[in-house]
Amino acid sequence: MPRVYNLGSINLDRTINVSHFPKPGETIDGKVFEDSLGGKGLNVSVALQKAGQSVVHIGAVNHNDKSLSDMLDRFEIDQTFVEKSDHPSGQAYIFLDKEAENSIVVCGGANLAISHDHINQALENGSKDNWLVLQNETNGQAKAVEIALGKKMKVALVAAPFNAEMVIELLDKIDLLALNESEAKELETAFGKPVEKIGCPMILVTKGAAGAVLITPNQTFKVDGKKVVPRDTTGAGDTFFGYFLACWIAKETPQICLELANAAAALAVQKNGAANSVPAMSDVRAATGD
Ligand code: RIB
Repeated sequence: MPRVYNLGSINLDRTINVSHFPKPGETIDGKVFEDSLGGKGLNVSVALQKAGQSVVHIGAVNHNDKSLSDMLDRFEIDQTFVEKSDHPSGQAYIFLDKEAENSIVVCGGANLAISHDHINQALENGSKDNWLVLQNETNGQAKAVEIALGKKMKVALVAAPFNAEMVIELLDKIDLLALNESEAKELETAFGKPVEKIGCPMILVTKGAAGAVLITPNQTFKVDGKKVVPRDTTGAGDTFFGYFLACWIAKETPQICLELANAAAALAVQKNGAANSVPAMSDVRAATGD
C-alpha cells in the first residue's frame, strides 16, 4: 500500500474565544480558553489517516512533553519518527472570533529544529509509490525533498504559512501544490502570471466557504462550498488537503476527491479544534450521500 511521509509541525493549540480580534494597544477579555492538538502538519496526518491512508509522521516534540505525546497516541499517530527534542514543543495561540474566523501566532520551537539525521532515517524506506508531504511550519523541507526525489517519491507542498520564496525554490521538484485563495494571489503576484501557468503539474486551490479548484495539465475541476454554520474554521484547510490526497492515492476520480475533501472540511468547521475536528470517513461518505 502506498504510504505518505509527512514532514509536519505538531503544536499544542491554545484557543481563546474572543468577541473580536484585539487592535494594537487594545486589551480584551478571552471568553473560553481551550488546549487541543494541532499543527498544520499533524492535522494533515490525522486527516490522511481518517481517510484510510497509511502515514509516517516526521516531526518533533520536547522530550519531556508527555501531555503532547499522549495526545498523539489518542489520535493514533505513530511516534517512531517524532523526534524527542531539547527545544520546547510547538505552540499555536489562536484567537477565534464569533464568525468562527481565526488569527494565529505560532511559536515553532521543536518543529523548527528537526535534525537532518532524523529526516534521513524516517525516509529510509521511502519508495516510488510513496508521497512526501510538506508544509511550511518545520525546517528541513529541502533536505526531505532531496532524499524523496532520490527515491523517486512524489512530493506535495502545502504552502502554508505562505512564503513565496519557499514555493519558488521547490516548485520544479513537486507534483502537487496546495494553496488557499489568498496564497494563490500572492504567488501570482510573485510570478507575474496566473497559478495555472507557473509550471506545477497539479495545483489545488481551496477557497474556504466557496469550495475549491483542482488544476491538472488537461482539465480543471471545481467543487462548490457546502452551506454550513461554522463554529471553528481552524484546520479546515488541513482536513481538506489530507482527505484530498488520501482519496487521490486511493485512485478516486479527481471530482470525487474534491467532493469528499469538501465534505470533510465542511464537517470539520462545525466542530471545535483542529485535529479534533477531522471527521471519520464514514461520516464524510454519509454527508456526500455515498
Ligand atoms: O492550520 C491550522 C493550524 O495552524 C493549527 O492547528 C495551528 O497549530 C497552526 O499550525
